[in-house]
Parts: sequence; structure tokens; C-alpha cells
Amino acid sequence: MSHSDLTRSTIIYSALAGLIVALAACGGGNAAPTATATPAAPTATPEPTISPVRAAQGKAAFIRIGCVACHAIKGVSDQALAAPALDQAYKLAQDVINSQEYKKSEGTAKTPREFMIESILEPNAFTYPTCPQGPCVKGTMPQNYKDIIRAEEMDPLIDYLLSLGR
Ligand code: HEC
Repeated sequence: MSHSDLTRSTIIYSALAGLIVALAACGGGNAAPTATATPAAPTATPEPTISPVRAAQGKAAFIRIGCVACHAIKGVSDQALAAPALDQAYKLAQDVINSQEYKKSEGTAKTPREFMIESILEPNAFTYPTCPQGPCVKGTMPQNYKDIIRAEEMDPLIDYLLSLGR
């Protein structure tokens, strides 16, 4: 399978997933709340297994874009101290989403994947509290990744982060 085939199938897959989510949302949207309705228990969204090729592409993007300047990942950017280490990025994302601090913030992510995307494209929606050298400073994350990250790099980058710490 060539690289562009891979990219194309990813796009198709993402489009299908979006459609399914949209359909599911339509179906449930009109249901009138009843007195007996109990809120659905939060279910962990299983992340599909990430291939080593995909993870390697994401790691290359993490380096090219310069995330390595601030975020430590073992064997990639061990010395970076300006931001939380991302060795356990998946677990970290889950913990953040479930925290009271996050619920009080402007963050709207419900899954680790959504959290990664939000953290990169809207870094000020939530400011992670603890950095290696003290409290994290809001606004340290570059604010222009929407313009800097190539479209074809974004998905592998997110997959790479989601492969860490689970
Ligand atoms: C100039 C330093 C800097 C760079 C470069 C940088 N970040 Fe960050 N990042 C931070 C800081 C500081 C925080 C914690 C404060 C916050 O949440 O805004 C953070 C938070 C995050 C978080 C949330 C982590 C958590 O612990 O909740 C993720 C995910 C993240 N960055 C990913 C990236 C990725 C991916 C890149 C490259 C595309 C990147 N960052 C580039 C400084 C940086």
C-alpha cells in the first residue's frame, strides 16, 4: 500500500466515522428526557491499534514541528523541560478529561483523541497545571499550529501521542 493509499483510506475512514457519529447524534437528539432516564455510564472509547509505521510518521512530525523543544519523550527529547513530558500522553489525556479542573475549563474534549487535537489547535482552552519547573504558564504553547502543521502530519501526530502510555 502506498503512502497516498494509506492517507486516502484514513480520510475515508475518518469521514465514515464522522458520519456514524453524526447519525448516532441525530437518532438520540430528539428523545424527550423522562423522569426514569438514567445518564449513560461513561464508556471508554477504545482507540484502534496504531501501526508502527504510523507511529513512526507521527514521531517524525513531533520532531519536525518542534514539539521536542518543550515536551520530553524518552529517547526522543529527554532534555525538554518547558512543558509536561508526554511519555504517558494517552493516560495523561484520560486523567485530564476526568479532572474537575478540566470540567471547569473551556475544554470540550470527551476522548483522548479530542483532547490531543484541542491541546494542539486551541492550547488555551485548558492549561495543564504542572510543568517540570513549576506551574505551567498559559500561552506557552505556540498558538499558530493550525497554520504550521501540515494536514497530512496531523493524524499521524495524534496517533503517535495516543500510542504513548496505554
Ligand atoms: C514552546 C513550548 C511548547 C511547544 C513547542 C509545544 N508545547 Fe505543548 N505544551 C506546552 C506547555 C507549557 C503545556 C502545558 C500548558 C498548557 O496546557 O497550555 C503544553 C501542553 C500540551 C499538551 C497537553 C498536555 C497535558 O499534559 O495536558 C499537549 C498534548 C501538547 N502540549 C502537545 C504538543 C505538541 C504535539 C506540540 C508540537 C506540535 C507541542 N505541544 C509544542 C509547551 C509547548
